[in-house]
Amino acid sequence: MNWLDSAIQHCVTKTTLNSRKFKDFPHITEGGKYQFTLDGVWTGGFWTGLLWLCYEEQRDPELLTAAKGFTERLLPRANDSRNHDLGFMFYPSAIAGWRLTGEESYHAAALNAAESLARQFNEAGGFIPGWGFFGGEEWAGAVLIDTLMNLPLLVWASDNDGGDRLLRVVDTHTAKALDNHLRADGSVFHVYHFSPQGEPLQGDTYQGLAPGSAWSRGQGWAIAGLSMLAGARGNKRYREAAQQVAQFIMANLPADRIPLWDYRDGAASAPKDASAGAISAFGLLRLFKITQKAEYLSCAEEMLKALSESCLSDENEGLLSHATADLPHSLGIDEATIYGDYYFLKALLELKKTAD
Ligand code: GLY
Repeated sequence: MNWLDSAIQHCVTKTTLNSRKFKDFPHITEGGKYQFTLDGVWTGGFWTGLLWLCYEEQRDPELLTAAKGFTERLLPRANDSRNHDLGFMFYPSAIAGWRLTGEESYHAAALNAAESLARQFNEAGGFIPGWGFFGGEEWAGAVLIDTLMNLPLLVWASDNDGGDRLLRVVDTHTAKALDNHLRADGSVFHVYHFSPQGEPLQGDTYQGLAPGSAWSRGQGWAIAGLSMLAGARGNKRYREAAQQVAQFIMANLPADRIPLWDYRDGAASAPKDASAGAISAFGLLRLFKITQKAEYLSCAEEMLKALSESCLSDENEGLLSHATADLPHSLGIDEATIYGDYYFLKALLELKKTAD
């Protein structure tokens, strides 16, 4: 078996075994063991999505039952009114499940989730704030690069009778992010602060090394989000921006092809973030799909092969070890994360489809 088939097989087998013991939503590991949440916080879509990916591969009724059970547990979250992560939560779960089963309640919940996300759009400011759930005025104008990953939910909903209003939200928010988060060297700010009326104030970070640094998962969310949006909207500016971020990532990857947690951390002890590697590889594959530029495909392949060789550890319950969730807040350093696991398998399957 080649490395790609063998990595896919490893992920499917381990997820099947995990599905027999995980009763709640896995989030981030501590000492190699998953910590669980009851409602899926912002990551419930990834475990559910992993189950759907594995079910699609194996057509195993046990995986179908698990995937349906976790999808159903997430559905009430479609009404979250202060949560910019609704795309992360509903695309890999309810939309994937609806595509595979035709279950109408999943379709209805995903449309509802899109409405809940669009309602968070600040019309005067032209953005969807992140972390509304932190509460307090200081978060009302904080816009995260991660939100780009949530916007494909709105594009899907618009294509499924949600109307053009949702596309206006997508395009207004994305234009604002490109005007402010994207820097001249192709890197992006994690956070950008705006006044409630949308005046740009300053770039910042929460999970990265410093406001001007290049938090590697943020670069990953940017390339993946922009590439998906460029494909879905046929938008040249989004595609060119994704290519700028790709250039930055490719120029700053270490020789072993696994990103440091922050590209600008020069310390010899700086930990890796394998989840950033998986997300960035997925983004590069989506960018290859819309540009046909071979350098994106070959970089994604190198990154996924490196992750397969160095991060598939039996000592961690997760699929992809050596991820870093949030170093400044001492959370999940050199552990597995459920988003790293999901995007790793998603990218491996995407690579296989591309290679076939
Ligand atoms: N909240 C998104 C992330 O940690 O990447």
